[in-house]
Amino acid sequence: MKPLTLPGIEPYAHEHTHAEPDYLEALERRTHAEMKQPQMLTGRIEGRLLKLVVAMVQPRLVVEVGTFTGYSALSMAEGLPPGGRILTCEIDPVAQRVAQEAIEASPFAGQVEIRPGPALATIESIDEPIDLAFIDADKTGYLAYYEAILSRMPAGGVILLDNMLWSGRVLEPGDEDTRALAELNDRIARDDRVENVLLTVRDGIQLVRKR
Ligand SMILES: C[S@@+](CC[C@H](N)C(=O)[O-])C[C@H]1O[C@@H](n2cnc3c(N)ncnc32)[C@H](O)[C@@H]1O
Repeated sequence: MKPLTLPGIEPYAHEHTHAEPDYLEALERRTHAEMKQPQMLTGRIEGRLLKLVVAMVQPRLVVEVGTFTGYSALSMAEGLPPGGRILTCEIDPVAQRVAQEAIEASPFAGQVEIRPGPALATIESIDEPIDLAFIDADKTGYLAYYEAILSRMPAGGVILLDNMLWSGRVLEPGDEDTRALAELNDRIARDDRVENVLLTVRDGIQLVRKR
């Protein structure tokens, strides 16, 4: 991922952000040692942001699209209110196995549940209100995830979407993934059902709240 900020700023922000718990540091090390695309893991800055947003919104149900090895799901779990839970969607069996082990090694085994298979089918099977969602999977699927989640969300619900600046490529969309992200940024900015801010944190995070 190409840095969007001045050289040295990302490490500076990392050093000046609270550290994650030991089991998340261990998960990051394991992900780098064992997984093919370890850079997909969100990491400290985005993980702490997700935890803070969850702690502020106090959702009863969180849906995550794209578990990978479980780092972002377990970061969000730290902010859950009592009785709150996370359903996290993952299609890759290898990632599911690593994430399941990480969940069991954390204090949140009873609150975080992996839903295997394609995320859209999982979202469409949910028949209770989704209070908060984090979308971080296949980029061409984002629009369908956004719509399916928004239609299941009460007023005040929050959606965060990762990689919405895509290393800056959204400025000149030249491929299918970039076009999908740029078109969704345009759509969210015009969407009267929500208010939003496109944060220039890490690879760009859309922070969206349903009116
Ligand atoms: C960028 S990674 C997620 C990173 C994770 N949020 C973290 O912080 O560690 C994207 C994940 O989405 C999964 N994925 C891709 N397409 C999917 C789909 N249609 N349904 C469910 N998961 C999918 C991939 O297998 C991959 O593990």
